[in-house]
Amino acid sequence: MTSEQTTESNNPVIEKLEEKDTTSAIAVAGHPLHAMSVHFPIALVFGTLAVDVFYWFTADPFWLRVGLWTSGTAFLAGVAAGVVGTAELVLVPGIRARVASWAHAIAAVTLISVAGANWGIRLLDPAAVLPHGMLLSTLAAILTGVAGWHGGKLIFDHGIGLMVSSRD
Ligand code: HEM
Repeated sequence: MTSEQTTESNNPVIEKLEEKDTTSAIAVAGHPLHAMSVHFPIALVFGTLAVDVFYWFTADPFWLRVGLWTSGTAFLAGVAAGVVGTAELVLVPGIRARVASWAHAIAAVTLISVAGANWGIRLLDPAAVLPHGMLLSTLAAILTGVAGWHGGKLIFDHGIGLMVSSRD
């Protein structure tokens, strides 16, 4: 075995996991709610960008109405996912202690704010979709990528939120 290789007992990620509890605090029957809820804002943010592109190409006002609904539900679903994520961050010591958790939270809150602005300008003026709505949709899609990537890192690199069953 080379010095680069590690066994389970001296794996630094496992050692850090054993220092403080990182088990998800907000879960239903062993299924963490945040992981279940983030799919909705992710899909709706990217969906809104697609809808804006359809409107740009077709000028069909149908897409303005669709965009109003997808941007609004993207924002509301983002807030709902964010509330659960914030509870995990505040309540679980091992999650709170990691810089990566806070990096994800900052990216996510920035995303939710942009998603809110994207819905707000459409509520005030549906014609604002081109170009400002589409620019906000593009920014929201990029921020979703950043927040989602950081969120994934928490799970796959840091082992956060895992609920390992004691059963065989
Ligand atoms: C205030 C906002 C948020 C906070 C504080 C937050 C916090 C967290 C925490 C602590 C985790 C680790 C897993 C867990 O404990 O459940 C996580 C995972 C994750 N978060 Fe967030 N989150 C927020 C909003 C969002 C939003 C809006 C998205 C959608 C883009 C998102 C995407 C993810 C993803 C993809 C994961 C990995 C989940 C998995 O694959 O199982 N988060 N987040």
